[in-house]
Amino acid sequence: MAGLVREVPQDWWEVEGLFDLCFAPGREALSSYRLRDGIDPIADLCLVMRDETGVIGGAIRCWPVMIGGEKAVLLGPVAVHPTRQGEGLGAFLIYEVMEKARDLDWSRIMLVGDAPYYGRFGFERLDGVVMPPPTNPERVLGAALEPGAWDGIRGEVMRVED
Ligand SMILES: CC(C)(COP(=O)(O)OP(=O)(O)OC[C@H]1O[C@@H](n2cnc3c(N)ncnc32)[C@H](O)[C@@H]1OP(=O)(O)O)[C@@H](O)C(=O)NCCC(=O)NCCS
Repeated sequence: MAGLVREVPQDWWEVEGLFDLCFAPGREALSSYRLRDGIDPIADLCLVMRDETGVIGGAIRCWPVMIGGEKAVLLGPVAVHPTRQGEGLGAFLIYEVMEKARDLDWSRIMLVGDAPYYGRFGFERLDGVVMPPPTNPERVLGAALEPGAWDGIRGEVMRVED
């Protein structure tokens, strides 16, 4: 089916293949993956974009995390197939996830990524929010989905234990 749809279990390995293609080898060794291991992603915030032939052009997943006793959405991984980059698909996926998260009453969203890219979506450096090492603090970014949602939020980003 063409367009943007919620990821279903049958999509899992195809999306993993896209992430493997788009990220450096060993992506799962990144410390951010320790926050995701064994924890279900937020199903409504896992989206797959397919073209009219059914080929995946981009995908995004999100997980819940805790910081200082408060919940947040951890955005990512997000990736767009190398043949489709620069067409706005990445922006579409990110805006869509932010809007859906707001509709689902999430107050705040964060990620580890490049500020020059994510700044356009309203993400800013989160001072005092600490990802498991080794993570460059400059890459720890957040956006408020309701005014002031990051005010006073400090501490280590922790797993949501089920
Ligand atoms: C990052 C990514 C998701 C962006 O998707 P996309 O569909 O190509 O992005 P868009 O079309 O919405 O935006 C393209 C713009 O973003 C810029 N951009 C892309 N990646 C960037 C980065 N890491 N830093 C700064 N700018 C970046 C492009 O130069 C382009 O700029 P322009 O609008 O001035 O021409 C995609 O390039 C990708 O999958 N990269 C590999 C995986 C990855 O790095 N994921 C993000 C992890 S932090």
